[in-house]
Amino acid sequence: MQWAGPDAQPDSAVTAVNVLLVYGTTEGQTRRIARFVANRLLQSGQKVLTADAREAAFIPDPRDFDALIIAASLHAGHFQRPIIDFVKRNRAAISGKPNAFLSVSLTAAGSGPRAAADLARCVADFVRETGWVPERVHHVAGALLYSTYGLFTRWVMKRIAARSGGPTDTRRDHELTDWEDLAKFIDAFTATPSVTLRAHA
Ligand SMILES: Cc1cc2nc3c(=O)[nH]c(=O)nc-3n(C[C@H](O)[C@H](O)[C@H](O)COP(=O)(O)O)c2cc1C
Repeated sequence: MQWAGPDAQPDSAVTAVNVLLVYGTTEGQTRRIARFVANRLLQSGQKVLTADAREAAFIPDPRDFDALIIAASLHAGHFQRPIIDFVKRNRAAISGKPNAFLSVSLTAAGSGPRAAADLARCVADFVRETGWVPERVHHVAGALLYSTYGLFTRWVMKRIAARSGGPTDTRRDHELTDWEDLAKFIDAFTATPSVTLRAHA
C-alpha cells in the first residue's frame, strides 16, 4: 500500500480529488492496472491511495476519500474473496461516494452478446453477494500470463483462449489490456460533476 499524490499546494489541495483504489489480484495483472490508474490520476493532479484487498488491516476508512475505485479479476466466474469481503464490510461507505468497479477478465478481450452476457452475469453475482451496486462498471481485458501458470492451468487457459480466438503461444505472456480505453474511462470518471464537486467540498 502506498500514499501518492502531489505535495499540498494551495490550489491543487482545494481541487484535487482524493481517490481510494482497492484491488484484488491473483496473478498480478490487476495490480498493474491499479498502478496505471494511480499514475493517470496523479498526472491529472488528483491524489490516490492504492491498496491490495488482502492487506485489509491497513486499508484506511473509505469515508475519508472523495471517490472510490474497486478493481478485481475473474477466476472461474468469481472475483477475489478479499475484495468481496472488503466491499461487504464497507458497502455503506462506498455507496455514499462516487464509485466505480473495474472488472478485469479474459472475456473482456472478446466481443459480442455472449461475452457481454457472461460478464453481466458475473457482475450481477458480485452485486448480489456484496450488496454494492457500482455507479459505473468498466470491463478491462486482463492478461494471459502463461509463464506463471502450472501445467494444468496453462493447458486449460490455452484451450479457453483457442475457443475465444485469443493468443495460444504458451512460450510467452500476453497482455490484452487496452490502456488507452482505461485512461479514457478514468478521465471521464474524475471529470463527472459528482466527483469534482466532492473535491471542492
Ligand atoms: C485459473 C484462471 C481462471 C480464470 N477464469 C476466468 C473466467 O472465469 N472468466 C474470464 O473472463 N477470465 C478468466 N480468467 C482470466 C483472468 O481474469 C485474467 O487472466 C486476468 O488478467 C487475471 O487478473 P489478475 O492477474 O489480476 O489475477 C482466468 C484466469 C485464470 C488463470
